Amino acid sequence: MNGKFAVLGNAFYSESFDSVKYIEKGLFCIDESGMIEKVLCPKDREYRRQVRRYKDTGRLVEMKPEEIMLPGFVDLHIHASQWPQAGTALDRPLEIWLGEYTFPLEAKYRDMAFAGRVYEDIVKNTLENGTTTAMYFATVDRRPSVLLAKIAGQAGQRALVGKVVMDDPAANPDFCRDADSRQAVSETEKFIEDVLEFRDSFKQKVYPVITPRFIPSCTDRCLEKLGRLAQQKKIHIQTHCSESDWAHGYAKERYGINDAAALDRFGFISDKTVLAHAPFLEEEDVKLLAQKGTSIAHSPLSNAYFASAVLPLKEFHSKGVNIGLATDISGGYCPSMYSAVRQAVISSRMLNEGVDPSLSRENRGRPDSAITLNNAFYCATVGGGKALDLPIGKLEKGYGFDVQVIDTSFGFPLYYPEKKPEDLLHKILLLCERSNIKQVWVQGQQVK
Ligand code: GUN
Ligand code: FE
Repeated sequence: MNGKFAVLGNAFYSESFDSVKYIEKGLFCIDESGMIEKVLCPKDREYRRQVRRYKDTGRLVEMKPEEIMLPGFVDLHIHASQWPQAGTALDRPLEIWLGEYTFPLEAKYRDMAFAGRVYEDIVKNTLENGTTTAMYFATVDRRPSVLLAKIAGQAGQRALVGKVVMDDPAANPDFCRDADSRQAVSETEKFIEDVLEFRDSFKQKVYPVITPRFIPSCTDRCLEKLGRLAQQKKIHIQTHCSESDWAHGYAKERYGINDAAALDRFGFISDKTVLAHAPFLEEEDVKLLAQKGTSIAHSPLSNAYFASAVLPLKEFHSKGVNIGLATDISGGYCPSMYSAVRQAVISSRMLNEGVDPSLSRENRGRPDSAITLNNAFYCATVGGGKALDLPIGKLEKGYGFDVQVIDTSFGFPLYYPEKKPEDLLHKILLLCERSNIKQVWVQGQQVK
């Protein structure tokens, strides 16, 4: 719908880390740019008049009583280029998986036809699963990375895309790396220009991201120059940090300081930075991120394979670090953020209780680590929006109208009214299938 319009229906969104808000028969008034300009409830004085006004002018979209709106999910870390190998070789350690499977796959994207096919498909799959915003790693090559941004933009997804920087000949095969540090940085600069050229041609916008793969992929010269570029450009930054024992230990060995501190020294730690994984952060790293406003992209499914550890999400959040959720395709195998929400809760409960039955109950776990579904829902929506410094993730005035509409008329055990509205949200979060996601809207535009 062009111009102003309104959507009438039931909705949930996160009010805070712990609490959710339910709005029954809300009137969500959307302005020309796709932002929510007002939300009216039946008890509001203006409500009936406004509903009639939008209806009489043919500008009212009415949801059915069994349809529930949720904010679209923000997938804060996803390798679009690894989609063809989702579900492959996750039993191998990270550093082996990268060399044997991932780099050969990522090198294929120089074939622009191949890149186009895969990128169309992953954008379609994530959108259909309710992901309205995604922060993507593409590959080392600039042209297919620009193509990913364009494809996401055209499909109506809000995308943040990085050309991956990986220049160290000792760490990367010749067929999948930047020729040298100079080229790594100049190609990144060109990539940023290319994406900025069409950023605003999409209502929801697409954004370039500075993307050093992780410290082990890059030479010091490259990290120095790229860090300077990041400081100049003040755009989004993404990288992997302290993901596994190996990755965490690597930075210590190379610099004598932690991964996060090394990234900071090079200029990569900012309030627009997203660090993927980071379960092995130490006390001073957590302080650094909280102080700099740097966020973590938590990929619980991937962590079960490559990290062999669980992010202490609740502790890091309580110390002031913002956390979003992510699929990490293909370190995680599933493109649906529902699976990230579910696994985040499950993993945290296992961390809380411990898992080795031979230990006594009191020595088995790490107390106060379990997160609730409300916490996970917050991270998948509001946490992602905060991480990216974008007005998304809530259904309130001043936020983009990014919504997934869940049809609860099948697949949900709704035999009698829920005790409280929140119970219905929890059923949706745990039982929703892709087929229940009837519509998806991004910035006021219907894309599914
Ligand atoms: N660390 C460096 N590259 C990667 C990657 O592609 N996936 C994951 N999970 N970790 C990484
Ligand atoms: Fe990753």
